[in-house]
Amino acid sequence: MKYRMIGSDPATRREVSVLALGAMLFGSQTDEKTAFALLDRYVEAGGNFIDTSDNYAFWADGGQGGQSEELLGRWRRSRGVGDEIVIATKLGARPLAPGTSYVDNAEGLSAKVIRESAERSRERLGAERLDLLYAHIEDRTAPLRETVEGFAELVVEGTVGLLGVSNHAVWRVERARALAAAAGLPGYDVLQYHHSYLRPRTDIPGDLWPDGTLGATTAELLSYLEAEPELTLVAYSPLLTGGYVRPDKLRPDYDHPGTPARLKALEEVAREAGATVNQVVLAWQLGGRFPIVPLAGVSSVAQLEENLGAVDLELTEEQRGRLDAAH
Ligand SMILES: NC(=O)c1ccc[n+]([C@@H]2O[C@H](COP(=O)([O-])OP(=O)(O)OC[C@H]3O[C@@H](n4cnc5c(N)ncnc54)[C@H](OP(=O)(O)O)[C@@H]3O)[C@@H](O)[C@H]2O)c1
Repeated sequence: MKYRMIGSDPATRREVSVLALGAMLFGSQTDEKTAFALLDRYVEAGGNFIDTSDNYAFWADGGQGGQSEELLGRWRRSRGVGDEIVIATKLGARPLAPGTSYVDNAEGLSAKVIRESAERSRERLGAERLDLLYAHIEDRTAPLRETVEGFAELVVEGTVGLLGVSNHAVWRVERARALAAAAGLPGYDVLQYHHSYLRPRTDIPGDLWPDGTLGATTAELLSYLEAEPELTLVAYSPLLTGGYVRPDKLRPDYDHPGTPARLKALEEVAREAGATVNQVVLAWQLGGRFPIVPLAGVSSVAQLEENLGAVDLELTEEQRGRLDAAH
């Protein structure tokens, strides 16, 4: 395994494995025995960066979520897991009632929700401190200062380690970080967005984000990361939920003329490198210009082994250039 630092404050930053593990479906679609086997193997391979949310996976049973955090709590207790594993969770997108969704009935990012939902996540995870807590989606009804202060208070109190943000317009991230900096408060250090090798269309509503594509990594987000080297991009759904090997899983956002050219480059490089296309995608993210941590989910140990194999796959400059240029 290889490692990188996340966080800008030397007092709170953490060293995490370059490959993160998504636990979104653990405890719902992925049963407990399989999930424990995946977690154990990931840790045995040196992995220590696990991702969940207070709303995972509410859509699986029409509830409000929490199964993934609860499963991670049971796994932590049964394995005696301590500080060495960084578990990131999120709040803000938990549906307020069973049978509803984050799209129109999310808990939001008021100071009250931040405090109470973080407390519930700590209970489910069985953790005194949340290692990394993200604002999952935007809440434009809560004053931004209130959100910024609400998150910062938890860090100052010691119940949260680092802060992150997901699926926000870049200008909102910058505004929140500027507010925090001006007040001498901790701000968002980790940015979690969808990012992969294939590029989605951003001019049509995505099925994940009916109001647009705030979840996708855009040129604007990349330019922000370039200007702010202390930030880390955590790339969710890097394997397009299996779409590189199961084209029927590719969402309509990828149905555009740029896709075949990029798939061709990917297949060429995979053949030359003696690797799989999934491994080339992850290796391309791992070794690029910006610090990117791929956050992949898996449903079998075989998939996990394949993904772990990407950590030691070094692409040549020429291969990287070819992959970058394909469009
Ligand atoms: N911040 C956000 O809003 C947000 C949104 C979505 C996800 N996330 C996070 O990102 C994590 C990953 O997201 P994701 O599950 O949507 O996407 P993903 O990692 O791209 O896809 C995971 C799925 O891809 C397939 N897969 C994985 N490795 C494979 C391999 N080596 N060969 C073939 N198929 C493979 C499996 O599908 P099968 O099980 O069907 O085989 C697996 O369940 C989640 O667990 C969650 O923590 C965050």
